[in-house]
Amino acid sequence: MARQFSTVGVVGLGTMGAGIAEVLARTGLTVIAVDVNEEGLARGLGHLEHSTSRAVARGKLDEAGKAVLLGRITTTTELADLAECDLVVEAVPERMELKAAVFAALDGICGPDTVFASNTSSLSITEIGVHTGRPGKVVGMHFFNPTQVLKLVEVIRSVVTEPEVVTDVVALVEQLGKAPVVIGDRAGFIANALLFGYLNHAVRMYESRYATREDLDAAMRYGCGYPMGPLALLDLIGLDTAYEILDTMYHQSRNRLHAPAPLLKQMITAGLLGRKSGRGFYTYDAPDSPTVV
Ligand code: 3HC
Repeated sequence: MARQFSTVGVVGLGTMGAGIAEVLARTGLTVIAVDVNEEGLARGLGHLEHSTSRAVARGKLDEAGKAVLLGRITTTTELADLAECDLVVEAVPERMELKAAVFAALDGICGPDTVFASNTSSLSITEIGVHTGRPGKVVGMHFFNPTQVLKLVEVIRSVVTEPEVVTDVVALVEQLGKAPVVIGDRAGFIANALLFGYLNHAVRMYESRYATREDLDAAMRYGCGYPMGPLALLDLIGLDTAYEILDTMYHQSRNRLHAPAPLLKQMITAGLLGRKSGRGFYTYDAPDSPTVV
């Protein structure tokens, strides 16, 4: 019988953290969401408001249901408020020192049975685990963007993650209505390891003026049935996030496929991060609607 989680902490209320908080609350769990400051919390609450309003507009939720869902989420800037959680999902930026500091602090706050899950997309779960006194209770829980829609959650076990922890987290993922896959601890796990070589290749084609952005995207949408073309998808993921994932995978595997295309770095330096900054490969009026420049 899998363990039933009831109160879940979410650390980091960016796009992914807010999406994870929403998915957990949608299933009836109590969520305590933490961000570093009031500004971070306000931004996260903005994501939640936007996404739940969209669900109401689409007829998937009524106003009362939205209020109940949001009522299950409390926000705080104090990690200490997560003391009673039986699971904490971390979704802070992809920097090992940041994740290590969060889990090291939580280790002294939460009870010994609390499971620590990281939404990291490419950092080592094993390495995160050694910054705690409970590496056996540390696991990866990698959601996909948009979290509210995409069903996959990769559950990553390190060499020391307890088998029961994996079983319990897999059961939770199923309870959330999502599809779990279990995998060992290697940069990129399954989906990103396969996806990002393709995305990087598309940037190189665009960079060398081999094809226009529209034709690159149209080819994969209309020729292969992908819901989005590679450049539009990079804008959704965020060019900075994509760069970090590629760079981590490249350093681990030395596979040239993952050596970040130079154009990515140039665009990031120029502040073209994709939807979140209003411009990436395309220009956006609003986060959800691409317009061609
Ligand atoms: N938040 C909440 N709901 C959203 C949403 C969002 N940001 N974006 C779309 N939706 C919902 C809509 O409300 C709609 O729901 P409904 O059909 O039940 O009413 C449904 O998703 C479809 O949306 P749209 O009709 O507006 O648009 P599309 O049919 O074009 O779908 C999409 C949009 C879901 C984003 C689709 O294009 C898609 O799946 N794209 C690929 C995304 C992808 O590959 N993501 C993985 C990125 S890699 C990753 O996340 C890993 C990380 O480590 C980087």
